[in-house]
Amino acid sequence: MITVVGVGRVGSDAALHLGLRRLDREITLIDVVQGLPQGEALDLNHTMSILGIDVEYRGSNDYRDMAGSDIVVVTAGLARKPGMTREELAAKNAEIVGAIGRAIREHAPGAIVLMTTNPLDAMVYVMYRATGFPRERVIGFSGVLDSGRLAYYASKRIGVSPSSILPIVVGQHGEKMVPLPRHTYVYGKPITEFLSRSEIDEIVKETIQAGAEITKLRGYSSNHAPGAGVAVMAEAIKRDEKKVFLASAILKGEYGVEGVPACVPLVLGKAGIERIIELDMTEEEKRLFEESINAIRENIGQIPRPLIE
Ligand code: 2OP
Repeated sequence: MITVVGVGRVGSDAALHLGLRRLDREITLIDVVQGLPQGEALDLNHTMSILGIDVEYRGSNDYRDMAGSDIVVVTAGLARKPGMTREELAAKNAEIVGAIGRAIREHAPGAIVLMTTNPLDAMVYVMYRATGFPRERVIGFSGVLDSGRLAYYASKRIGVSPSSILPIVVGQHGEKMVPLPRHTYVYGKPITEFLSRSEIDEIVKETIQAGAEITKLRGYSSNHAPGAGVAVMAEAIKRDEKKVFLASAILKGEYGVEGVPACVPLVLGKAGIERIIELDMTEEEKRLFEESINAIRENIGQIPRPLIE
């Protein structure tokens, strides 16, 4: 069984893609709002009926109903509201994620947890502490989105399909993310050989600002790309694909970082994170990565201590 905790826009999109990809016969949706997960489950069951897909959704307000899950997707949390500081958001969402983490530890102790709640990397840390799971089983969705965006913007300039680009973005999911054009290849040739310096600067900027751009345009943040992205990660785990993703993991010495989560290339299979891939970086890339790690440390610093001790 797969469980999705948090049935807002991202959660319901994730649930839809999990069903479309037939990743399990049973998908449980849990939310604290009465009626919401039950209503979503009904709508999605009708969708599967129309499409002829044998997947059954179940809505619940009770964390105990995640028992038996091998994957728990956590999308619960607040989005930043006007006037709310990042610190306030971090503290509030840490409380929510911490409570969910303790519920996962109790009711689904063997699960692999996929996180989308922002501030992403800090929430991965809270989940890692709250569950006490090995780092292989707590993974943040972030780089899939950021690298997907980098591939999209690069593809428009180069004139090849985004699927022919291997995009790399590392570090924080936030303003300090580090797109790495020198490591972003179109079949053996880095995009830096296709594009001018100013074009590269533009696509890097577009990638970093994409989330804010969507929110500015329509008044709420992205949901389709996160929903699809987290389902693709769940698929790699379910089907033991050993596919490489850009995703947030607690680093244990890789990239010279200890005990802090950050987005890096990693291999996903049935055990969760099966390997972390370390990239060679230039001095400038290393400097940007370090700044990014410092931003994540700062996000973690905004969380009240009792929630991460
Ligand atoms: C995004 O980057 C809000 O994290 C979300 O679109």
